[in-house]
Amino acid sequence: MNKKGLKDINIKNKKVLVRCDFNVPIDSDGNITDDIRIVSALPTINYLLENGAAVILMSHLGRPAGEPNPKYSLLPVAKRLEQLMKKEIIFEDCDVVVDESVKNDAKKLMPGQIMLLQNTRYKKEETKNGEELAENLASLADIYVNDAFGTAHRAHSSNVGVCKFLPSSVGFLVEKEISIMGKAISNPERPLTAILGGSKVSDKINVIENLLNIADNVIIGGGMSFTFLHAMGNNVGKSLLEEDKVELAKNILAKAKEKNVSLYLPLDVVVAKEFKNDTEFYNCDVNSIPSDYMGLDIGQKTIELFSDVIKKSKTIIWNGPMGVFEMDNFAKGTNELALEISKNSQAVSIIGGGDSAAAVEKAGLADKMTHISTGGGASLEFLEGKVLPGIDAVNDK
Ligand code: 3PG
Repeated sequence: MNKKGLKDINIKNKKVLVRCDFNVPIDSDGNITDDIRIVSALPTINYLLENGAAVILMSHLGRPAGEPNPKYSLLPVAKRLEQLMKKEIIFEDCDVVVDESVKNDAKKLMPGQIMLLQNTRYKKEETKNGEELAENLASLADIYVNDAFGTAHRAHSSNVGVCKFLPSSVGFLVEKEISIMGKAISNPERPLTAILGGSKVSDKINVIENLLNIADNVIIGGGMSFTFLHAMGNNVGKSLLEEDKVELAKNILAKAKEKNVSLYLPLDVVVAKEFKNDTEFYNCDVNSIPSDYMGLDIGQKTIELFSDVIKKSKTIIWNGPMGVFEMDNFAKGTNELALEISKNSQAVSIIGGGDSAAAVEKAGLADKMTHISTGGGASLEFLEGKVLPGIDAVNDK
């Protein structure tokens, strides 16, 4: 990577402003239900502290629409960080994120101390990349470090705007994400297999198109597969279907052929009459889905077909579940593929963030994968081959 990293900057006795992605799921009782994004930020934070910096952390959480809202406070993150680091986190619960009192506290911050600002999206300017907020944030520190891979596809004040006012580098998490995923799409061990699922074709069109230029195998499952199955002439009953994407699906099928990419679709699916866990379901071939049934998971023959491809792969990129994995009766396809990937110790396995990461965590297989990305949207845009503005804005080496 041509961007400055932590080892390229002098941080001793400096105040370092670090953008993290602490946008973590929080339940109605205020408990963080998955802290992987916080844990993943620790190597950078610890390195900065151990090398004589005072650390000022900032992040967004959820979408509070530019107003202070206790539901989106970063207080639970401050508490979790405190537990993980066994160290005091000075939490600046300020409705405007930066005011005179925050500036004074930042001035007084000593090497080895950590401060966490309030949710940057409490300010409307944040998502518009407003300059005043960027300048205010930058005024707190001497150096800026971007370690928020999950937010790298956004161009906001706290990740892009600040770069105008401070010397910058990326953190260890951003470096790791880019190097592992970058190698997988630019110089992979082959065969490279991309497994794509999730509900909508429209969310993944650009990823599929880009991966057709790179991958040896593309596996398509989940809700989005029904638009492809329909394009191939199957009756998909009440399954999820994007009528306006059928032509596009046909083009993708033709392109795969043209580029000699093996594109795999389900042979059979698990169908039910209703979209709920407690309902009758059965396995049927894709050419015999009854009109009043919907496909909610891949079927047994499909699991075997996809598993076979996974076994022979040297690089696997997975983004999106194979079925409605949140419902136990329709989680089998997703779980079996996760297990198969975990068993292929020869392969580099990269799990895109969001649902597939959640599925792997739920199956207890996270530590068997080479890399689980902390970016949902960001990892998708990276796989689309797009430039991520949050990383682009950081100083080059
Ligand atoms: C994410 O969870 O994908 C990032 O934190 C970005 O959040 P956003 O989609 O609300 O910008």
